[in-house]
Amino acid sequence: MIIKDAVFLVSNTDHHQCPDDGKPEYAFIGRSNVGKSSLINMLTGNKKLAKTSSTPGKTQLINHFEINKDWYLVDLPGYGYARVSKKERAKFEIFISEYLMNRKTLMNVFVLIDSRLEPQKIDVEFINWCGEKQIPFSIVFTKIDKISSSVLGKNLAKYKKELMKYWDEIPPVYTSSSESGFGKEKILNYIDQINISLKQAQ
Ligand code: GTP
Ligand code: MG
Repeated sequence: MIIKDAVFLVSNTDHHQCPDDGKPEYAFIGRSNVGKSSLINMLTGNKKLAKTSSTPGKTQLINHFEINKDWYLVDLPGYGYARVSKKERAKFEIFISEYLMNRKTLMNVFVLIDSRLEPQKIDVEFINWCGEKQIPFSIVFTKIDKISSSVLGKNLAKYKKELMKYWDEIPPVYTSSSESGFGKEKILNYIDQINISLKQAQ
């Protein structure tokens, strides 16, 4: 799939105020600084579309980007950002979980995980929560340009082993680098397949 057109549309904290035109959407979540906004920019080929930062806690709202006037990419705030107050973090968690649980047009959530790390409790808990709430999700291991392929292989195997403790089946898993563009085609194809099946079902 080719992205010809990607425009920022609106930011919200309340899912009720998100676009109501019924177009399918795909959201990106994961710990602060894992590379959600960078991945959106990489997929759309526009480095300035979503705001990124080397300091965690950059994205604070639910941001809708309209793609090819047909569907949305949604940039979400990160979880697990230690430097915001407990009260502030709870507020984030509420509006993000409300969005994830109630957004009817949300077709898939990409849960981003830093490929350099061993399984982290907070990510495993979040994945398990998505499973329990029946939120459709897939996993993207980010920043693969920062490690060797052998370390990547080991880390992926450890993650799969950890998740298999809880689940019989693992959702689709992707690897990405927003630096090199690795993963772009596979992730966009996955979205395209869902969009096509939605159109066929209409
Ligand atoms: P929050 O909005 O704060 O939750 O962060 P985020 O998950 O949106 O992360 P963001 O895209 O802002 O990226 C965080 C930092 O990681 C930035 O300095 C990016 O340049 C860097 N980064 C993101 N993806 C990659 C990647 O694939 N490779 C490398 N080397 N750096 C990356
Ligand atoms: Mg961000």
